[in-house]
Amino acid sequence: MQIRGTDHSPLHWLGDAIALGFFENAVEITGDLAQLDEKLGGTLQELITEAEFTGKTGQKCVTRVGSNTPIRKVILIGLGKIEGFKRGNLGAAAAAIARLAKKEKVKTLGINLPLVEQNASKTAEAIAEGILLALHQDNRFKSDPEDKTLPLETIELLALGKQNEAIAQAKKVVSGVILARELVAAPANEVTAITMAETAQAIAQDYGLSIEILEQEDCEKLGMGSFLGVARASELPPKFIHLTYHPEGTPSRKLAIVGKSLTFDSGGLNIKGVGSGIETMKMDMGGGAATLGAAKAIAQLKPSAEVHFICAATENMISGRAMRPGDILKASNGKTIEVNNTDAEGRLTLADALVFAEKLGVDAIVDLATLTGACIVALGDDIAGLWGTDETLIAQIKTASENAGEKFWEMPMEEKYFEGLKSPIADMKNTGPRSGGSITAALFLKQFVEKTPWVHLDVAGPVWADKESGVNNSGATGFPVRTLVNWVLG
Ligand code: BES
Ligand code: MN
Ligand code: ZN
Repeated sequence: MQIRGTDHSPLHWLGDAIALGFFENAVEITGDLAQLDEKLGGTLQELITEAEFTGKTGQKCVTRVGSNTPIRKVILIGLGKIEGFKRGNLGAAAAAIARLAKKEKVKTLGINLPLVEQNASKTAEAIAEGILLALHQDNRFKSDPEDKTLPLETIELLALGKQNEAIAQAKKVVSGVILARELVAAPANEVTAITMAETAQAIAQDYGLSIEILEQEDCEKLGMGSFLGVARASELPPKFIHLTYHPEGTPSRKLAIVGKSLTFDSGGLNIKGVGSGIETMKMDMGGGAATLGAAKAIAQLKPSAEVHFICAATENMISGRAMRPGDILKASNGKTIEVNNTDAEGRLTLADALVFAEKLGVDAIVDLATLTGACIVALGDDIAGLWGTDETLIAQIKTASENAGEKFWEMPMEEKYFEGLKSPIADMKNTGPRSGGSITAALFLKQFVEKTPWVHLDVAGPVWADKESGVNNSGATGFPVRTLVNWVLG
């Protein structure tokens, strides 16, 4: 399938199906559209009236054209209110069009959507991203997939000009999102610490990044007792992945992205009970998956910043060697942790990863983690929690996320709640009281970042979607690769 931009307006475009976007309560057929309607034998106006189409967000309808024009189908998409219409909304509209066109077995599709930011290339990029993300399907684990072949052959973005560059850019970003989706969707018997390291190695090789994989002994030498405490019960070796993108010339800034990479989380000896969603815990490397996805995209986009991608990968299992509730671990910054709950393992792995990241002397660190169920309780499935120590960095991430159409909500770094993590015997416990559980998790992580500007993203909700929505299909979403990419490019 090919996506390309064209100068043709809807009036002069010819192909299988034409898709038109309308803002809410702005569905009058005048000017060029009136001429188009005439060409289509009045189908446009009839469809609007019969379907009671008003342009509300998510509204969509399609009909067959009877008149003798090569255009056989018309698709209408509601864009919602014109105020506050952003790139994210455009991507979602493009995704809805692509899904509908696929269902309608359209081969050549023309898409007419409004400009965002009065910028044709940003518009084309957002539309192309939406299309490609919506059409991605993961058939790796099906022996006889239902929809092996895609009917769509050509998609033209109308009235935007060529836009080859913007569409190529979208493909690079999407390749990273898809990598993240596929890593999250693959089960824990496929994606292990070993295969995550192999994936990172492949990215390094394909795009010329430098890579360092620390084995268990290397981690022991660095004193990563916290990470290794979690890894202890697994039959598989832990891998501490450090992938680096170096720009040409002197880097404009140095950044680190640290992703929680638990390829499976059984809970350890505080094992997850019935109804805990243990069978979904293959997604507990969602942070690491997005880290590698961002690496893949960034390696192709070649920004001016140096970027370090860090994944302390392992699984949280049970065995005779498992860490016990009550064990005391020592992290690589010398701090001791009383593990009062082995199911709060993500923060233990991140502790050593954050210490490692800070030692690199970067200007900013962003960690992303499927860290707490409490964050899902607070913000639901679609919104990630954001905590930070630096206003500038927080603002950068917020802007990046708005442009990506990925939602975050800033949460309080309430120092007083650290009292809940006080241990009578060690420097801290790894869990506090049930209430404010995502905040104490953030405060725990904060003990492992001394002075570097840092943002923590709790992505437990949005890495997975139960049903398709916006650019997400049901299943793994690839959240928040596009936010990370926008931030680094920013
Ligand atoms: N991986 C989980 C968090 C999670 C829960 C992610 C649901 C996605 C969906 C994490 O390791 C965990 O188990 N957290 C515990 C912390 C508790 C023991 C303090 C939780 O949220 O229950
Ligand atoms: Mn856990
Ligand atoms: Zn976990």
